[in-house]
Amino acid sequence: MLSNLFKKPAVPQTSLLHDTYFNELRRKEYSRLCNQEHTYLDYTGGNLYAQSQIDKHQELLRNHILGNPHSTNPSSKLSTELVQEAREKVLQFFNAGDDYECVFTQNASGALKIVGECYPHCEESHLLMIADNHNSVHGIREYCSKQDGTYNYAPINFEDLTINEEQLEESLNAQVDKKHKLFVYPAQSNVSGVKHDLEWIHQAQKLGWDVCLDAAAYVPSSVLDLQEYQPEFVALSFYKIFGYPTGLGCLLVKKTAFPKLNKKWFAGGTVQYASVNNPFYLLHDNYEKFENGTINYLDIPAITIGLNFIEKIGMQRVNERITSMTKYLYQELKKLNYADGSRFVHIFGPTCRESTGGTIIMNFFDRAGKLISVYDVEAQANEMNISLRSGCFCNPGIDELNNNISNDGIENQFFTTDSGNLKGLVSKLKDMRGATRVSVGLPTSQKDLDKFIDFVKSVRNEFSN
Ligand SMILES: Cc1ncc(COP(=O)(O)O)c(C=O)c1O
Repeated sequence: MLSNLFKKPAVPQTSLLHDTYFNELRRKEYSRLCNQEHTYLDYTGGNLYAQSQIDKHQELLRNHILGNPHSTNPSSKLSTELVQEAREKVLQFFNAGDDYECVFTQNASGALKIVGECYPHCEESHLLMIADNHNSVHGIREYCSKQDGTYNYAPINFEDLTINEEQLEESLNAQVDKKHKLFVYPAQSNVSGVKHDLEWIHQAQKLGWDVCLDAAAYVPSSVLDLQEYQPEFVALSFYKIFGYPTGLGCLLVKKTAFPKLNKKWFAGGTVQYASVNNPFYLLHDNYEKFENGTINYLDIPAITIGLNFIEKIGMQRVNERITSMTKYLYQELKKLNYADGSRFVHIFGPTCRESTGGTIIMNFFDRAGKLISVYDVEAQANEMNISLRSGCFCNPGIDELNNNISNDGIENQFFTTDSGNLKGLVSKLKDMRGATRVSVGLPTSQKDLDKFIDFVKSVRNEFSN
């Protein structure tokens, strides 16, 4: 009895790293989350901006006269300077040195489209992708096949959604006779959070491949050092790193690979010279070549503000925080089976969450083992002001693997049904697919995670009888 008197009062247990720092940051910069009692868990969909980012950007817009760049008038000069400042900031943020051009695009998809459109696909080219790519990468195969290039996919392991290393190596070794070889893969899965080894960049390059790294899901919570790895092309979206502005991404192009991208048309801003009287035109030979028309010169300065904001926190600290939150969430969710031990929740991906990003996908099952509709789960979460996401997240490969959807039958139906039946097929396929995805970001608190865990428990309780 006596020993109880000397017991310390129970301290709320938190396993989250840098808790004091990030709680204070959330109070200062993201108070709207608490004010609206909103549990935002869709950071892979889009990050949230800090209050100070929009204050600084608004102040800039309020106090300056910014005109269309590339002229000598003062409003134009200022815009040009601010855009250049942002461009240099991006290159510095990724430690690109003098090795890369930074092409501003609308988003990561826009960056990937430039690669798809301009890479020299032909009979002597090959495109290698992995099953865990985003649709914006899969779409590149259309450029490839229409120009008689060949393509294939390296598969993903069913058990933990990592790359099948043996088969990837085989694919990388297979195309010895091809003149142009492009390997496109995500540094991090936008679905499972799995980080695919950046060493594949070195491996592929040694075998004569050009590498396009889809860094959209990776750079919001991990350091990308372009002195350590130098893929020929890197695609990303800025709103995924710091929330604001939307509508801006970039393609980082290694200068040595720049001449390989063959642009097939021109537009305002991309040419040094064009004529009406003759068919001759001369494109710019730097980033301007790919920035069609007037760039988003009012929003681009907000990239500098956003990157400065992240730098002040430190990407390493963001990474540690996100890893600890993911581990916590994963461990708590794993405990949530039915009282008799039967399965309620299935989490896809690796069991070790030490080096995955902050994304977790899962499915829930009723007592009979039947999948609970992911759309019903989302609808219930909506009612509790929890923002999560359901579906297949523009990543059909992972979804097909998780839900055991094979090509058998589907392929034929796809090409032989009329459009009425096709709709039926698509909706049937949709019903077979999908998962619930939650993702954490630097504003996430333990309270958010606990609220989600309570929500999952409430779903379980509903299906317990
Ligand atoms: C890995 C990955 N690649 C590409 C994209 C496409 O990005 P955006 O929609 O910003 O073009 C996303 C978006 O979620 C992504 O996660």
